[in-house]
Amino acid sequence: MNYKFSNRVPKTDNDPVGDILKAAADPKVTSFAGGLPAPELFPVKQVKAAADKVLDEKGAAALQYSSAQGVPELRNVVCKRLEVEGIHTTADHVMIATGSQQSIDLTAKMFLDEGSAVIVEDPTYLTAVDVFRSYGAHFVGVDMDEDGMKMDSLEEALKNNPDARLIYTVPTFQNPTGRTMTMERRKKLVELADKYDVMVLEDNPYGAIRWEGENLPSLKSLDKTGHVIYMGTMSKIFSPGLRIGWVVAEPKLMKKYTMMKQSADLHTDSFSQYVCAQYFTDNDINEHVKKITALYHKREQLMMEAIDKYFPKGVSHSYPEGGMFLWVTVPGVKSSQQLFDAAMKRNVAVVPGDPFYGNQPEPGTFRMNYSNTPEDGIVDGVKQLAEALDEVMSEPATK
Ligand SMILES: Cc1ncc(COP(=O)(O)O)c(C=O)c1O
Repeated sequence: MNYKFSNRVPKTDNDPVGDILKAAADPKVTSFAGGLPAPELFPVKQVKAAADKVLDEKGAAALQYSSAQGVPELRNVVCKRLEVEGIHTTADHVMIATGSQQSIDLTAKMFLDEGSAVIVEDPTYLTAVDVFRSYGAHFVGVDMDEDGMKMDSLEEALKNNPDARLIYTVPTFQNPTGRTMTMERRKKLVELADKYDVMVLEDNPYGAIRWEGENLPSLKSLDKTGHVIYMGTMSKIFSPGLRIGWVVAEPKLMKKYTMMKQSADLHTDSFSQYVCAQYFTDNDINEHVKKITALYHKREQLMMEAIDKYFPKGVSHSYPEGGMFLWVTVPGVKSSQQLFDAAMKRNVAVVPGDPFYGNQPEPGTFRMNYSNTPEDGIVDGVKQLAEALDEVMSEPATK
C-alpha cells in the first residue's frame, strides 16, 4: 500500500523522544527525563468524591454532549484562577481545551500556513515544535539567557520576519530551561508585539509552582491591545489525566477558537469538566498547589546540591525558582545524544537538547526533571550522571 499522506504527517517513523521516554520507563533506570507531576500528590479521594457528586447531581448533563466553548461552571473556576495571573476577565473570554496541547494545536491551525514564520525561544517546548512543524512553520529562534528571551534578538527577528504570524513563549519556569522572563522583558515583549503587530501565544503551565522570587504578572495582564493569547492547564496543578486546559482571548478570536474546537473534537470531555469544577468548589486548590510546590522545591534542592557537588567543572545549569525543569550545558561536547548514551549506560535518563530547537540545536545540552523522581533516587542518579559527563568531556565527540 502506498499511503498518500498529507504534508502534516512526519516523513519518517523516527521518534527519538518517544524512544527516550520508553527507555526511561525501565524500572532499572533513574529517570530525570519525563515531565510528569509527582503521582503521590494526585488528590484521588477528593476526585472520587467530586465524581460521585457530579453523577448524583448532574449525571445526565455530564454524560451528554456540551458546548464547544466548555462547561460554564468550569469557565467560571478558570476565571477565578486567572485573577492570580492578574487577568481579570469573564467566562465569555475563556474556552476549555483538551489540555494546553490542544490550545497550541488550534492556535497553529488558526494562524499558520505552509512556510509561515513562528518566533520561538531557543530552546522551546519540544511538542510545540512538533505541532508548528506539522503546519509547515518556518522557525525563527530567539536567544535566551537566565532572564528569558533576549529582547534585542526578538526585535531583530521581528524586523527580519515582518510576516511572522506568532511569537510562542513560556515566560515562567520555561520548559525546558526552567528560566523566567523578567518584568522588564515582559513589558518589552508586549510593546514589541504591538509595534510589529504580531500575535503572542503565552503558555503558562508552571507559573503557580513558585518557591522563590516574586510572582510576575502574565504577559496577557500587560497587554492592552489584544495581541496576547493566554493558555493555562490543570495538568501541573491538579491532574494531567483529566486533559483540561484553557485559552483566554478577545471575543472576536474566541468565536474562531470555538469553531476550530468544534471541528477538532466537538468539545472537551463533559464529565472531566464537571468533575474538575466540582473539585475546585469543594477543595482549596491553593493549599494543594502549596503541597506540590513544597515537594518539588525539596527535590530541586536535592538535585541542585548534588549537581554542585558532583558535576565536573565547567558544566553550567539554570537556576529555576519554580516549575519542574532545569537545563544543563556541557562545554566542548559536539553531540547531546552522546551525553544521553553515556548516561543510559549508567541507567540514568535525561532528555538530550536537540528536539527543543526549531532549527540548529546547541550541542552539549540536556533537560533534567526533578518533580517525578523520589528523593532517594536523586543523589545517586546525579552521581551516575556526573560520571557520564566526565567520560564524555574527557573524550570529545566524534559523531
Ligand atoms: C510548555 C508546555 N506547554 C504545554 C504542555 C501540554 O500540557 P497539557 O497537559 O495541558 O496538554 C506542556 C506539557 O508538559 C508544557 O510543558
